[in-house]
Amino acid sequence: MRGMFSHPAVLFLWIQSASGWMHPKCQIYDSGEDLGDFATWTCTYLRHHEEHYTAACEEVTAIEEDLLGLPPNINNLCITMTHGENRSMSLGFFSQFQDLVYLYIDGCFAQILPTGNSHLPNLEHMYLIGKWVMGSGCCDCHIGPHTFRDLVKLSHLYIQGYRLRAMAPDVFHGIPQLQIFSIGEPCEEDLSEILCRIMNIKSLIKIRVNAPEIQSLNQSNCSNNNQNVTSVFNNLTRVDLLFDEITHIEEGAMAWLQNLTILNADFSQEVLLRLPLSGIKQIQYFSCFGSNDIDIESICNVVFLLSIKQIYLNIANTSSLSMSSVELCIGLEYMHLSGPGAIYPTPHLKWNFISSLKKP
Ligand SMILES: *[C@@H]1O[C@H](CO)[C@@H](O)[C@H](O)[C@H]1NC(C)=O
Ligand SMILES: *[C@@H]1O[C@H](CO)[C@@H](O)[C@H](O)[C@H]1NC(C)=O
Ligand SMILES: *[C@@H]1O[C@H](CO)[C@@H](O)[C@H](O)[C@H]1NC(C)=O
Ligand SMILES: *[C@@H]1O[C@H](CO)[C@@H](O)[C@H](O)[C@H]1NC(C)=O
Ligand SMILES: *[C@@H]1O[C@H](CO)[C@@H](O)[C@H](O)[C@H]1NC(C)=O
Ligand SMILES: *[C@@H]1O[C@H](CO)[C@@H](O)[C@H](O)[C@H]1NC(C)=O
Ligand SMILES: *[C@@H]1O[C@H](CO)[C@@H](O)[C@H](O)[C@H]1NC(C)=O
Repeated sequence: MRGMFSHPAVLFLWIQSASGWMHPKCQIYDSGEDLGDFATWTCTYLRHHEEHYTAACEEVTAIEEDLLGLPPNINNLCITMTHGENRSMSLGFFSQFQDLVYLYIDGCFAQILPTGNSHLPNLEHMYLIGKWVMGSGCCDCHIGPHTFRDLVKLSHLYIQGYRLRAMAPDVFHGIPQLQIFSIGEPCEEDLSEILCRIMNIKSLIKIRVNAPEIQSLNQSNCSNNNQNVTSVFNNLTRVDLLFDEITHIEEGAMAWLQNLTILNADFSQEVLLRLPLSGIKQIQYFSCFGSNDIDIESICNVVFLLSIKQIYLNIANTSSLSMSSVELCIGLEYMHLSGPGAIYPTPHLKWNFISSLKKP
């Protein structure tokens, strides 16, 4: 509690709450506080952040009205909307919080507007969660060109459940310091729709795409771009791609992301064997669950060609496992096998061959 008294606005709120009045939608707390039964899980892990002055608002229907009375010097703001589908949300509203570092908004809007003439000079992390419930469809929110370019310090942008095609092709252009771009459930079947939107962000070092709808890895062009795709994402140090099932791979389709950190997808044997033709040169962590017809020899072939370091597999037919079939897996540092319906390796396997995988 002590830290709170250094903020005059909080002192005001605290006095109010002592006399029985509290902010109707938001809980405000300092890092040193014991949160007790603090219910807003979305904001709680921020306790480990350096910035500690947090407001967590729930059941918000209209941001402008429901957030009235928040102290201007909060660092973290988490908002959970109940109804927002027909509203516009203007990033300019948040410029009254000049110390804001972290902004989390769970809610689907009709439109998101840029900051306009105002600024959010310290905002580093922004989470936009558009989908109410997992698997319940997409948020069709119009987001126009260059919407985020005035967020001069934004380094981490996380977007979940927003339909990508409702956003302008150049929606992410001009964000000066964006390093980490993470998009989940973009309701998009074409990976290049995502990559084309971020290829001009020179500061990017990490990309994470979680797109269950993507089933084909196809060759693509970004319109108005004549760049050689193999040099577009040169500076990335981490690329995670998570799909459900890939059923089609075109030759060279992945030439612009040659070095993957994580690839998570199911493949049939036939499609898996085409993976090295996709242009991917290297994968560190590869996981493939739920495939029925893949034999370990084919997997090890791919492990060898793509220099895979760690592999997580669910193989239905473990009877094909043998020393000779895993020879090409020799470069692996870790292998996790599980059989049908089992989380852990099936007991009837002869596990002695695994020792041959260990590097000397
Ligand atoms: C949103 O707006 C549309 C069209 O203006 C209208 O048909 C719909 O009922 C509105 N939905 C809500 C929840 O207000
Ligand atoms: C990828 O190519 C296949 C075969 O040409 C086609 O059926 C599929 O619709 C394409 N997918 C995308 C997302 O372009
Ligand atoms: C890589 O980073 C450097 C320095 O930030 C930048 O000048 C260059 O344009 C970047 N390259 C690509 C392909 O984005
Ligand atoms: C790329 O775009 C050009 C011009 O629009 C087109 O001729 C070409 O077929 C496209 N290539 C691919 C792989 O889509
Ligand atoms: C693209 O760049 C790569 C490596 O920088 C090079 O090997 C390849 O020949 C280039 N492709 C084209 C079409 O210029
Ligand atoms: C691929 O990524 C690994 C790990 O980040 C790195 O050690 C390696 O140099 C990268 N290779 C290329 C060709 O970028
Ligand atoms: C499992 O693999 C073995 C050896 O490759 C093969 O003979 C057998 O038919 C396979 N079983 C099933 C159910 O696919």
